[in-house]
Amino acid sequence: MPQTYDSFASFYDRAFAPLEHYYLDRLRRRVLSALPANGRILEIGAGTGVNFKFYPNCRHAVASEISRQMIEIARPKAHQIDLIQTDAQTLPFPADHFDAVFATLVFCSVPDPARGFAEIRRVLKPGGQLILIEHVRPDGLLGYAFDALNVLTTAIIDDHFNRRTAASVADAGFEGIEVEKRLAGILNIITAQK
Ligand SMILES: C[S@@+](CC[C@H](N)C(=O)[O-])C[C@H]1O[C@@H](n2cnc3c(N)ncnc32)[C@H](O)[C@@H]1O
Repeated sequence: MPQTYDSFASFYDRAFAPLEHYYLDRLRRRVLSALPANGRILEIGAGTGVNFKFYPNCRHAVASEISRQMIEIARPKAHQIDLIQTDAQTLPFPADHFDAVFATLVFCSVPDPARGFAEIRRVLKPGGQLILIEHVRPDGLLGYAFDALNVLTTAIIDDHFNRRTAASVADAGFEGIEVEKRLAGILNIITAQK
């Protein structure tokens, strides 16, 4: 729901600062270094623009985000990046358009991931790259703990803690799916191609 992140926007960067400093910033840098240079790239759920500094030189870079308040915070950081307000489930782009689409910590909040991944697949060129960093339902006993936690997190912050995101990517028809598991499998780096 956009309203959830509208209300988080003003303190989002401060709340995440320690995690960014000790872990996420380095991970983002490494994972997003795989983005192709000189092509068309699209970020989904760009939030406050924390990934902007990792964008490669591009023919066209688009950052999309559903929350108006998050966009207002991202705007001053967006240099040579088109920032647009849109829902990941209904992307306003032609088919076969982008060389790469990426998202970080987004598909826990998208209401219908299947619709989101179908849209991403539609707008990617054949052979185009999908890159994700997502928190997901871990394997084993911990997964059951996340099922329980999910009841609270969906009710309070509209955030799903037990998504099987790699499976949703596969169901959407992506190929060459690779999953790197971090933090006991809670965080997944998922890459795939159309
Ligand atoms: C946890 S934040 C992550 C922000 C940023 N990607 C990052 O790594 O810090 C999730 C973001 O996804 C956005 N979002 C949630 N549902 C969305 C949707 N259906 N379409 C587009 N963006 C969405 C939220 O507004 C929020 O900015």
